[in-house]
Amino acid sequence: MKLQPWIRTLFIAYVLRASCAYSSRPNFLLIMVDDLGIGDVGCYGNKTIRTPNIDRLAEEGVMFTQHLAASPLCTPSRAAFMTGRYPIRSGKWHLGLNCEKSDDFCHHPRSHGFDYFYGITNTNLRDCIPGHGSVFVAGAAKYIQATFQISFLALFTLVLISYSGLLNVPWKLIFYIVSVTSLLLGAVIFFFWNFQYLNCVLMRNDKIIQQPLVFDNLTQRITREALQYIKSNKDTPFLLFVSYVQVHTALYASQDFIGKSNHGIYGDATEEVDWSVGELLNELDRSHLQNKTVVYFTSDNGAHLEEISSSGEVHGGCNGIYKGGKSTSWEGGIRVPGLFRWPGMLESGMVINEPTSNMDIFPTVLKLAGSPLPQDRIIDGHDLMPLMQGERATSEREFLFHYCNAYLNAVRWNQRNSTSIWKAFYFTPNFHPKDSNGCFASHVCFCFGSFVTVHDPPLLYDLSKDPEEKNPLTPQTEPHFSEILKTIQHATETHKKTLQAVDNQLSWDNVIWKPWLQMCCSSWTEFCYCDYDYDFKLE
Ligand SMILES: *[C@@H]1O[C@H](CO)[C@@H](O)[C@H](O)[C@H]1NC(C)=O
Ligand SMILES: *[C@@H]1O[C@H](CO)[C@@H](O)[C@H](O)[C@H]1NC(C)=O
Ligand SMILES: *[C@@H]1O[C@H](CO)[C@@H](O)[C@H](O)[C@H]1NC(C)=O
Ligand SMILES: *[C@@H]1O[C@H](CO)[C@@H](O)[C@H](O)[C@H]1NC(C)=O
Repeated sequence: MKLQPWIRTLFIAYVLRASCAYSSRPNFLLIMVDDLGIGDVGCYGNKTIRTPNIDRLAEEGVMFTQHLAASPLCTPSRAAFMTGRYPIRSGKWHLGLNCEKSDDFCHHPRSHGFDYFYGITNTNLRDCIPGHGSVFVAGAAKYIQATFQISFLALFTLVLISYSGLLNVPWKLIFYIVSVTSLLLGAVIFFFWNFQYLNCVLMRNDKIIQQPLVFDNLTQRITREALQYIKSNKDTPFLLFVSYVQVHTALYASQDFIGKSNHGIYGDATEEVDWSVGELLNELDRSHLQNKTVVYFTSDNGAHLEEISSSGEVHGGCNGIYKGGKSTSWEGGIRVPGLFRWPGMLESGMVINEPTSNMDIFPTVLKLAGSPLPQDRIIDGHDLMPLMQGERATSEREFLFHYCNAYLNAVRWNQRNSTSIWKAFYFTPNFHPKDSNGCFASHVCFCFGSFVTVHDPPLLYDLSKDPEEKNPLTPQTEPHFSEILKTIQHATETHKKTLQAVDNQLSWDNVIWKPWLQMCCSSWTEFCYCDYDYDFKLE
């Protein structure tokens, strides 16, 4: 199925065995948490959520304080992470699972280079747990209501005209309107009534093992799977990408964690993820792989501030001092935790303040794995090893373009031979309520039309002095105001010349539910129900 693009994501816990020929090359353990805020993590300043295992990575490795997601939204950010390129260069971000048939699995990770997969190929959603509310119904309700109001009005008018004898309205027309409306209504009701069965599905490799997905112990099960993978691959170089389903809503935590944190279910889920990270690190130690494994930890974007449950509980995290959150290009939407650990090769306890991007992971991993970068495309990321090993003091990147979906939202300029880090906004989201820190009326901030304020000249900040983005500069407060904007504008034009038009992934054809692509583990008469995860015995 296809979902609205701004919540479409690829939350997958999956693993891949890299085809490295030399055992001297490191293993990779890449960890991504979903929607975790930079302010939720102990080593980035949180005092009340307990994340000792994530903090351990900072103590034993490198901590980036200005690590930037390539987009403030899960799907494009992940697309950039996987490709080392700006998400605008790939048209398709959220791929779903199938192309032509319900079992071709054309978009399955195993069709794209991964050897082993455990996880979900759709997004995690509130709607996946009964009682957690819906992200759709509120938004879709007004469109559905409008459709039915219009149909009803048309019908009523036709009947009235026909009855009054003004015009002879063919009964066929009335019949068509009634049938089409009922069919549409039927499909919509069917989709939402069976939401969990249709959209919340757990897979191992090409097999659907739970439909609908059961959230009980899910973080533990992902952990179990990852540990098993490390154990059974300890003699061959591997790349394991553990992409937690949490702490995106729907939130859940297992018995050992529920009610244990100071921050409700959000804190419980975060602390369970931290526990899981600890299990992975312990397994590396037990398998004597700690010095042979590069560990990377991040989040796909900033915390989703507007996530408030139907009962009013805060289900979104915290972005520390930074403004805004997920779905905005304010620092709160894109500045994420970024930790690297490789004992013996990287100094422990090192802190790097230079801007870096999650697009940098791809070239860094390729370099360390001894693979050449693809030559047939532009790679926007830079190898981070020279920076982390102290060979360079400044990042190779001078400009970073911050997109909100396909719209260029802001540009960051890490000016050479200067401590300033300029950030110019072409537009900013209209917060609602006005004095709040997010778009609470619409659940996310959108990046077009009446949802934004366009700035000409762009809104300019110096992040080195104003990381909270409180005081936009003016020609009076910044003598080089217009030169700075000119340089940024020039860089933007140069960047734009490297872009090529790609398919619009937001087209109706991409978004609409296609019943014939629907995955189903049993026959339709058995209601697509399966549960095999618990009786699975790991080899
Ligand atoms: C979840 O894990 C706990 C403790 O490990 C166990 O007691 C419980 O039965 C598990 N629940 C399921 C549904 O497997
Ligand atoms: C720690 O994280 C919690 C949960 O997101 C948040 O409520 C709290 O404000 C954070 N504390 C700090 C000091 O940022
Ligand atoms: C790993 O590397 C660290 C730092 O070089 C070293 O102190 C430690 O002894 C090494 N551990 C193993 C198991 O090789
Ligand atoms: C930065 O300063 C160095 C040495 O002072 C100089 O060689 C270099 O050209 C300068 N770079 C830029 C971009 O101005």
